[in-house]
Amino acid sequence: MLIRPRRLRISAALRDMVAEVRFHKDMLIYPYFVEKGKNLISPISSMPGINHFSPDTLMKDVEKGLKKGINKILLFGSGEEKSPEGKSAYHKDTVVAQATRLLKKNFKDELYVITDVCLCAYTSHGHCGIVKNGRVHNDLSVTSLARMALVHAEAGADMVAPSDMMDGRVGVIRKALDDADLTDTPIMAYSIKFASAYYGPFREAADSSPQFGDRKSYQMDYRNPNEAMKEAALDEAEGADVLMVKPALAYLDVVNRLRHNTRLPIACYNVSGEYSMVKAAAGRKWIDEKSVVMENMHAFVRAGAGLIITYHARDIAENGW
Ligand code: PBG
Ligand code: ZN
Repeated sequence: MLIRPRRLRISAALRDMVAEVRFHKDMLIYPYFVEKGKNLISPISSMPGINHFSPDTLMKDVEKGLKKGINKILLFGSGEEKSPEGKSAYHKDTVVAQATRLLKKNFKDELYVITDVCLCAYTSHGHCGIVKNGRVHNDLSVTSLARMALVHAEAGADMVAPSDMMDGRVGVIRKALDDADLTDTPIMAYSIKFASAYYGPFREAADSSPQFGDRKSYQMDYRNPNEAMKEAALDEAEGADVLMVKPALAYLDVVNRLRHNTRLPIACYNVSGEYSMVKAAAGRKWIDEKSVVMENMHAFVRAGAGLIITYHARDIAENGW
């Protein structure tokens, strides 16, 4: 036999040398749920190891993470007053704005703060936009989202990440930021966000479940990979700096296809349900957590993602996986 593939698998050193993709913890972005209040750390039952923090306790936890190399975080707000229009999403002193100011004051450029921009945690009906005549109204919603992005960027957010899936929001947010001379604040667009049952645990955490209907009139149908490329191309044309695919594990084909369709960096969001499934099985010792988590991380990289948003980030960094 001339060709024996096993020859290159003989030792760990050799396997490391010929490895085709490499994962690095610089790729990781760690999500946080920040809630109004003080001295608060409350566990999220469906996401073992993940908590709600108030801005003060968040500060301490971020510091711990920084020591282990987790220097990029994504902030979600909760606990603000809910209303039909979701007005509490964009007043000057939202809990996300407070936390952002505090974090950036403390950690400066050591910490990269990304904020999620969406109305669902702030609307009484739990939809990601403004409801008019029983439907989520696109253009009204976009106006509010742009205000929210601006509040975050003015509070010092390094990057904003709209997750609402309204049409045209990237362009409107870009213009709002530029008009405020925030031309250096990049937009990471949740470009290809599927209507997914994998968001279940997150909705408990963010208290953002829709109170009627579902999100299928704005989030994507998982049967549509061509439309996914259309969504990404639109966001790119509107000025998005990073394109995201979400969820990650069930959509690696989409990540890979996008890799061949854009020059922009690609982020994938390893969502709450994906995390909870691993944690639940690992908790019962049905799978080996470290091995499964690292296999998943490499799958994201192999598919073409350069940024990985994952609740596993702290475990990976703290345990040196
Ligand atoms: C809200 C939002 C969701 C997630 C991120 N932003 C949930 C949803 O769209 O219902 C999901 C994150 C996760 O499941 O980890 N727009
Ligand atoms: Zn939303």
